[in-house]
Amino acid sequence: MDFKVADLSLADYGRAEITLAEHEMPGLMAMRARYAESQPLKGAKIAGSLHMTIQTAVLIETLVALGADVRWASCNIFSTQDHAAAAVVVGPNGTPEDPQGVPVFAWKGETLEEYWDCTQQILLWPDDENGDPQFANMILDDGGDATLFVHLGLDMEKNGIAPDPASATSAEQKVIFEALQASLKTSSDRWTNVAEAIRGVTEETTTGVHRLYDMMREGSLLFPAINVNDSVTKSKFDNKYGCRHSLVDGINRATDVLIGGKVAVVCGYGDVGKGSAESLRGQGARVIVTEIDPICALQAAMDGYQVSTLDDVLDIADIIITATGNRDVVTVEQMTKMKHNAILGNIGHFDNEIDMAGLESFPGVVRKTVKPQVDVWTFPATAERDEHAIIVLSEGRLMNLGNATGHPSFVMSNSFTNQVLAQIELFTKPEEYPTGVYVLPKHLDEEVARLHLDALGVKLTTLSEQQAAYLGVEVSGPYKSDQYRY
Ligand code: NAI
Repeated sequence: MDFKVADLSLADYGRAEITLAEHEMPGLMAMRARYAESQPLKGAKIAGSLHMTIQTAVLIETLVALGADVRWASCNIFSTQDHAAAAVVVGPNGTPEDPQGVPVFAWKGETLEEYWDCTQQILLWPDDENGDPQFANMILDDGGDATLFVHLGLDMEKNGIAPDPASATSAEQKVIFEALQASLKTSSDRWTNVAEAIRGVTEETTTGVHRLYDMMREGSLLFPAINVNDSVTKSKFDNKYGCRHSLVDGINRATDVLIGGKVAVVCGYGDVGKGSAESLRGQGARVIVTEIDPICALQAAMDGYQVSTLDDVLDIADIIITATGNRDVVTVEQMTKMKHNAILGNIGHFDNEIDMAGLESFPGVVRKTVKPQVDVWTFPATAERDEHAIIVLSEGRLMNLGNATGHPSFVMSNSFTNQVLAQIELFTKPEEYPTGVYVLPKHLDEEVARLHLDALGVKLTTLSEQQAAYLGVEVSGPYKSDQYRY
């Protein structure tokens, strides 16, 4: 088995945590029980690009229990939990000397070159016994990087020429272009074959879903996609309650500052912003929200937060968190105006929310790494201001996974049960999903929620026939129209 992880000797520790997580992931365990016999994913070769955490380990082993072959990479250079990666490679029945699990290509602290190499490793499978090249036939994506690579690779092969790294507009794009150039030298039809093999992709997060709808609008989307993010039991739970847990976890592990009494700014009041603001308020911070959307701004105001612009509150903010999924939300000029030792972090998917390139190239700025994923950046004194510093978390990449361990198992069980159902839908019913972007039907969304009620001691009220008829729904659901917003 080929794989690349930090240290297989961590497998026992990983397995112990996976066992604890399984108890907290009733949705995934119900999938295993329900589909153990019918093996709906038999024949699926899933390329997974999603944070390689303990919770993801339970997802991977669920996909395997349903018959799939799987190869996995992380979708972020800092988010891998090395003990989880080791345990998945070793597998429940293997040993570090004789690993029998799933090929994982992920470790905490990858370089960008390593990251994109790992992404290729999950799409290109080892040759079969006849020496014929093998490829993934399903993608499970978080943020869309695996999907992006297949689309770029196919584009390149159609044009017969790889994009010139000199034309890249960012350091990361340069790395991608270089990887594509190297790939074209090895084979001229590899990505054509991968694109043909892929039956579909299931996408985990808001930012990846934006990319999919963009490709669909442009007419460039190559295969069907299920937007898992917009299952209610994903975005209204993981994005909100997950961040409510993992945002302050990240700040605490990174800095251990007392949050109570501090002024915290949350940029963006979507699902992630709502959970983030609540988590900071729960610690006693005075929370200020920034928004560009009047509806979300009004929601924030009615939830009791001050709503302002970042520029207006820079001089009082102790903690600044971006949660927009947008670019250039905090500029380097704004960083120069922050309080001494203000904490700056991003919980959105990509690192372009904070102008890290501008910070790195700012004249005279000095970076000191306090510990992995915690950097103090000191700005030189100017005529107006003495030398001052800011504390940047996870180099501007999602800090709840870089500085802490992401969302806890129970909430991820909801997200990942949607992922499993979406993989089954696309793999087993290709005729029902022509190329396009879909969400799971509402009865499956309600089913995911239902699977998590018992564990919390929830007693659900059952509709009478008369009540159901009065509301115009079936006793067994679905209970809401597709327009309902929860
Ligand atoms: P969303 O679309 O619900 O919310 C984003 C909000 O930001 C919107 O209300 C939008 O109006 C606002 N916004 C956009 N530009 C802005 C600006 N310049 N200033 C202030 N506000 C602005 O998206 P959601 O689901 O909250 O996701 C946000 C990001 O977090 C995405 O990148 C998503 O992929 C990521 N995410 C991260 C997770 C994590 O564990 N770290 C979990 C789930 C999602």
